[in-house]
Amino acid sequence: MADVRPASLKRINTKALAEAFIDDQIKAIKEQVGDKKVLLALSGGVDSSVVAALLIKAIGSNLVCVHVNHGLLRKGEPEMVCKVFKDELGANLIYVDAVDRFLDLLAGVTDPEKKRHIIGEEFIKVFAEEAAKLDGIAYLAQGTIYPDILESEQGIKAHHNVGGLPPELDFELVEPVKYLYKDEVRVVGSALGLPDKMVYRQPFPGPGLGVRCPGAITRDRLEAVRESDAILREEFEKAGLAGKVWQYFTVVPDFKSTGIKDGKRAFEWLCIVRAINTTDVVKCTVEPIGYDLMCRITDRITHEVPGINRVLYDYTPKPTATVEYE
Ligand code: XMP
Repeated sequence: MADVRPASLKRINTKALAEAFIDDQIKAIKEQVGDKKVLLALSGGVDSSVVAALLIKAIGSNLVCVHVNHGLLRKGEPEMVCKVFKDELGANLIYVDAVDRFLDLLAGVTDPEKKRHIIGEEFIKVFAEEAAKLDGIAYLAQGTIYPDILESEQGIKAHHNVGGLPPELDFELVEPVKYLYKDEVRVVGSALGLPDKMVYRQPFPGPGLGVRCPGAITRDRLEAVRESDAILREEFEKAGLAGKVWQYFTVVPDFKSTGIKDGKRAFEWLCIVRAINTTDVVKCTVEPIGYDLMCRITDRITHEVPGINRVLYDYTPKPTATVEYE
């Protein structure tokens, strides 16, 4: 194996160990990049957020963060990235509103693989365009973590963080958390002072809400996914399930059924709620969500989200189903 976790690196499971790791990394980053500029795609996910916070501590405004809003993020996420990094940590942050660009390209595209491909390609294009506008970038920081390296080496998945960048982004890499497991990255994130909402964020796919809006994405149905997801998250939080259930979200397929709203026929979408638990994501079980909670969620989604008249719960484990719908 080419890239192994150093034997001297202790398992980081306490604040003190995280602080020692942070100090070591700050020194290592300063040594590696000196007074040169470093570029980072900051998605708001745990890994890139922790890398950003570490680099801000090490090199301040010589870190240039680019946050691309592709229109497929959850409610409040772009705002949270700007608030935490720009306002609170004083990051040199470029916010790119690429919503129209992505949604126009995705209009009418129904094939799931094609949708994923468009989102991935366009993301790199937008990011490369922003990089080209900047002078003096010498390094590219990435939130590669140890499982990414292991999975790439074992041929399980060609992770976007390990190799394969276009020539215009062919900078030397800065990967300060590449030997850490996810739980260690979270401990380091907390020690860096990042909010729990960011550090304990549930997994979220790169193509975002795009894969939770099966069929051709339309702006109104995408909004229905975003709003129903926000309600689900709120209700899970209130019920004390937020930190306990591994992943939960809503899906709004391109399918309508007959219903009644305000005494009139309402031919509207249905919304599927999915909540799963797992340790390795290879196999997942379904969270046995309580009847009262499900009724509350159903009531809120059908009354607060325009275009939805029906809510269903997905009882399918993985396998046979995957976590995401596309
Ligand atoms: P599936 O649907 O394959 O999902 O059972 C397993 C886990 O991976 C997440 N997922 C992704 N994460 N980019 C990501 O970074 C992706 O394209 C992607 N697709 C699925 C999914 O949310 C679940 O946690």
